[in-house]
Amino acid sequence: MSTFNPAGSVALVTGANRGIGRAFVKILLDRGSAKIYAGARSTDSFDDLRALDPERVIPVQIDVTDAGQIAAVAAQAGDIDLLINNAGQAQFAAALIDDDLAAARADMEVNYFGTLRVTRAFAGILGSNGGGGIINIASIAGVQNFPLAPTYSASKAALHSATQAFRFELGQQGTTVVGVYPGPVDTDMAAGLEFDKDSPEHIATSSLDALADGTEDVYPGEMSSSFEQALRQDPKQLERDVTEMARGVLEAAAN
Ligand SMILES: NC(=O)c1ccc[n+]([C@@H]2O[C@H](COP(=O)([O-])OP(=O)(O)OC[C@H]3O[C@@H](n4cnc5c(N)ncnc54)[C@H](OP(=O)(O)O)[C@@H]3O)[C@@H](O)[C@H]2O)c1
Repeated sequence: MSTFNPAGSVALVTGANRGIGRAFVKILLDRGSAKIYAGARSTDSFDDLRALDPERVIPVQIDVTDAGQIAAVAAQAGDIDLLINNAGQAQFAAALIDDDLAAARADMEVNYFGTLRVTRAFAGILGSNGGGGIINIASIAGVQNFPLAPTYSASKAALHSATQAFRFELGQQGTTVVGVYPGPVDTDMAAGLEFDKDSPEHIATSSLDALADGTEDVYPGEMSSSFEQALRQDPKQLERDVTEMARGVLEAAAN
């Protein structure tokens, strides 16, 4: 069983300026990371990120769709041993069948190709720093399509599959790979969703605990863990239940 203890780590967190990414930076500071490269698309948030701990937090500009920015950060951050692929986006309104391909491509570009680009850029660095760890923030929507966000779900399914491939390919160099499958979390992304929501801090602590204790797949929070049980017991019934739930939401919105 492969494990990685984040205490003393040097981490890169993508999408660190808000939501779950920002919670990761705070929890990593609490747990004794030596240095955290906090990735943000906009330099406007750099002062705010630095203020979390000017000694240990190094803001870096990284848009995961921009290969040039990723290469520049890889050149600067050759000391990382923990990569947290958190950056993500969701097109809730788009349909797979009716809409043009722009929304499907946009979600795939960030959530799948973006994570792939960043991981490829840092895989060798992790290897030369002893293997280290990777945390991929996927979603329960990646293991069962959520009809209210089908393009997002498809991109997170691709990320789930990539996570398994990373575990195989990078396991050979000693890298521990954790996939995280949250339900709704209380961040900007889920602001319009009428569900009970997990906290960003709980997602971060559960993910880091899993890295340290060798849990490969993390289903944090009540909705996510009951989802995992349903998935194990009867995946077809879960598909029916999620479809039913989506129909109910659409009917309520129409009335
Ligand atoms: N909230 C949920 O219910 C939920 C559930 C399951 C999984 N997740 C996943 O959790 C992760 C974090 O989301 P969140 O809930 O914290 O949402 P959020 O508050 O909307 O934060 C998303 C973060 O990703 C960044 N980002 C978006 N596109 C990017 C790009 N092209 N390059 C670099 N960074 C980019 C955003 O940066 P800007 O500020 O520049 O936009 C922001 O920092 C995502 O992967 C999301 O899919 C969320």
